[in-house]
Amino acid sequence: MTTETLVQTKTLPDTFDGNLIQSLDRQYVMGTYGRQPIVFVRGEGARLWDSEGKEYLDFLAGIAVVGIGHCHPKVANTIAKQAHTLMHVSNLFHNPFQAPLAEKLCGLTGMERVFFCNSGAEANECALKIARKWGKQQRGAECFEIVTFTGSFHGRTMGTVTATAQPKYQAPFEPLVPGFHYAPYNDIEAVKSLVSERTCAIMIEPIQGESGINPATPEFLQALRTLCDTNNILLICDEVQCGMGRTGHFLGCQTLGVVPDIVTMAKGIADGFPMGACLARGSAGTTLVPGDHGCTFGGQALACATSLATLEVILEENLMPHSKRVGHHFLQALKALQNEFPNSIKEARGIGLMVGLEFSLPIAKNLLAHLLASGIVANAVGDTVLRFVPPMIVTEEDCDQVVDALRNGLAS
Ligand SMILES: Cc1ncc(COP(=O)(O)O)c(C=O)c1O
Repeated sequence: MTTETLVQTKTLPDTFDGNLIQSLDRQYVMGTYGRQPIVFVRGEGARLWDSEGKEYLDFLAGIAVVGIGHCHPKVANTIAKQAHTLMHVSNLFHNPFQAPLAEKLCGLTGMERVFFCNSGAEANECALKIARKWGKQQRGAECFEIVTFTGSFHGRTMGTVTATAQPKYQAPFEPLVPGFHYAPYNDIEAVKSLVSERTCAIMIEPIQGESGINPATPEFLQALRTLCDTNNILLICDEVQCGMGRTGHFLGCQTLGVVPDIVTMAKGIADGFPMGACLARGSAGTTLVPGDHGCTFGGQALACATSLATLEVILEENLMPHSKRVGHHFLQALKALQNEFPNSIKEARGIGLMVGLEFSLPIAKNLLAHLLASGIVANAVGDTVLRFVPPMIVTEEDCDQVVDALRNGLAS
């Protein structure tokens, strides 16, 4: 059987019993997620279909993951071909795709070295380990402190949940990892007051995602760069959510005009195939040596081939300028909606196709229910903000459809 015929062969059932799946989930899956009562069974481009056959316009993209759209043919064919050729050999050997992908990512980011892993938390964990080892080499054993920001989200491992300055994620798991300080976002004086000889790194999301799409100001990010340069401190940009093109540049920090020392990525890096990467330049790029760090699945042939195909699509289909243009249209339309509903909408904000709509009242979850009923997938962050991080292929008409549905929901 050729690869082509295998790809076409259906080995999965065509129909799914959504109620059975949800009852099995309640019984057997750890209850770590508050899920919507929907089972998605198929995706294509910016559209999803549930087990009842209902079609949805996807303005969440699996939380900023499926950046080039669901089941892009180039990515699907690459996965199928590579799955029939070679998936995994361990990092004790080379595979044909890891080094070319590293070269490609360095070219796109201005970084010099890459460590591959499987998720955003792992990418950030690698960044934290580089920062600690680098700090000790620079200023001795006491130089291990890291400044992060209130409202941040960096992951769920012990290191990254400590970096995540939100008590709701931390409290059940205390005691936390020592050496973290938290500054208010966009407040350079507060950061300065926390920095000392003991500080090895400052870690920031150029646009905070999980706390409701809050962009750093270019002035603030640039002031952080200067502060790090003056005090010999590493600047780490967590690009897990805002990277991979949706702000109009490959990285959010590029849109804001800053080159960090370490960049972390995951989510959209392989269009839904699990992958993460920690990139670094200068001495941060050569801090880790054999034995310091590792990851069994990290950088395997299948994941790297998928990521290379994803990056090719982002570039070939001009999805970065497209995201900027369509995101601008969406934001303007949401601002116009704010003028229509000044008492309900507090702010429409964002960069490119990373957009948040904040309400003056706790109506985000009700509006989300209305959007889902209208066949639109989005996400409520807390009670007052709706988050939109759609596939970068969405059109201005798609955005208008979302705005119309919001208008109907607000009116009712
Ligand atoms: C900015 C940021 N960093 C890190 C993470 C953690 O990524 P993962 O869930 O892949 O571990 C996330 C996830 O939402 C994120 O938004």
